[in-house]
Amino acid sequence: MIERTGELEQARLETLQRLALAAEYRDDDTHQHTERVGHASMLIARQLGLPDQMVQTIRDAAPLHDVGKLGVSDGLLLKPGELTAQEFQIMQQHTMVGAVILAGSSSCVLQMAEQIALTHHERWDGSGYPDGLAGEDIPLTARITALADAFDAMTHARPYKDAEPVDVVLAEIRRSSGTHFDPAVVTAFLTLDHVTLLHQTLSDREQTLSDLDQTLSDLDQTASARDQTASEQDEIASARDQDAREEAALPRGRAARARDASARARDQAADLRDRIADANAREQDRWSASRVNESADAEAVDYAARDRARAGADPESSARDRGRARQALPEQY
Ligand SMILES: [Fe+2]
Repeated sequence: MIERTGELEQARLETLQRLALAAEYRDDDTHQHTERVGHASMLIARQLGLPDQMVQTIRDAAPLHDVGKLGVSDGLLLKPGELTAQEFQIMQQHTMVGAVILAGSSSCVLQMAEQIALTHHERWDGSGYPDGLAGEDIPLTARITALADAFDAMTHARPYKDAEPVDVVLAEIRRSSGTHFDPAVVTAFLTLDHVTLLHQTLSDREQTLSDLDQTLSDLDQTASARDQTASEQDEIASARDQDAREEAALPRGRAARARDASARARDQAADLRDRIADANAREQDRWSASRVNESADAEAVDYAARDRARAGADPESSARDRGRARQALPEQY
């Protein structure tokens, strides 16, 4: 909430500064006149011992003193040399135009600015315009701003005149005390450091530009850091995608390898079974063949025994031969 209020206040002040800039834009190629008038008015007000709140308000309000020049044509505003009486009368209207532009605001800054815009060309002796006010009938804020405005206008060049030396200007101000200017305001003004006053806002401006450069540099660094972070995030995302692709490919490879190994194992097992079956078959063949031979031998022995019996040979010997022949036969025989 405090930050928001600060932003609104900053935006309000910036709006006022830009309004003042619009008013001075055509006849001050440095665009610093109004800011210098505001700064000098603040210093004079402080020197006069005015309350701090009023000092700060005049700092913001005094730059708007010539906002009514928005209603003056370029031909008249930028005319070199003396104005005709009619032209001067038109030029004087910038006080009333400015008051109209600033009128009706609830802002204390704009209310003070309206007062200053209307009366900053009044003179202490009553010879000013637009109403010929004199002395303390002229608002103090306008008496202060009138001196700050005159000092700055005389010490700086304009399209239609050259700048005058500070000592010449100060001498003119002393001579005008009690006629053009309020003597108390002149006394306060003469105590200020005028050389510094001439360049004060220039220094402020340089500081502002320096601050802006620093801000831009900070923004560049922030943008660079943001780009770096985005780049790193892209790399992380890319690496994550690569990992995901590899992870997706990995199970398929493992499964394929597992299937191949299983198939090879099955093939090897089948081959082993075939080789065992072949070996068993060959062994069975060998065993069967040996049995057949043994059977043939036994049968031959049996036949021989029977031949011997028929020939009257030893019956016991024939019986042993038959018994061995039967034991040698397989059971299925
Ligand atoms: Fe003016």
